[in-house]
Amino acid sequence: TLFDLSREEKLQKICQLLHDEVDYYNWVGFYFANHEAQTLHLGPYVGAETDHTVIPFGKGICGQVAVSNKNFVVPDVSAQENYIACSFTVKSEIVVPLFVNGKNIGQIDIDSHVLDPFSKKDEKFLEFVNEEVAKLF
Ligand code: SME
Repeated sequence: TLFDLSREEKLQKICQLLHDEVDYYNWVGFYFANHEAQTLHLGPYVGAETDHTVIPFGKGICGQVAVSNKNFVVPDVSAQENYIACSFTVKSEIVVPLFVNGKNIGQIDIDSHVLDPFSKKDEKFLEFVNEEVAKLF
């Protein structure tokens, strides 16, 4: 049953579900922070393979969220200066931090092939997803 799955497997299933159920969620993944090294490390994801398995704090959208502790919605990635391109098909991105006992331990990162698809509803929904994910820690 779902209860017997490891945390990794559960996170993988969450990525798959989000990717499959929301048509504009084209890449869904988790990054986890190493606070000593000041780096983010790619965890479970669904979508195109990425070279960016390690991202320094401050770099790109993901790295900025590691430092700001705030949601980051990018309607048009081509308008962002501090952005790490994973694929030319990506038009927009949303990153929502993952808090466990008030500590930012990582984030959920979603890329879309659609321009400006993310609304407050996505933010609220992904905050809820992360609150559930936090219970696995
Ligand atoms: N675009 C991200 C890098 C991670 S990929 O989207 C999977 C960024 O700018 O941080």
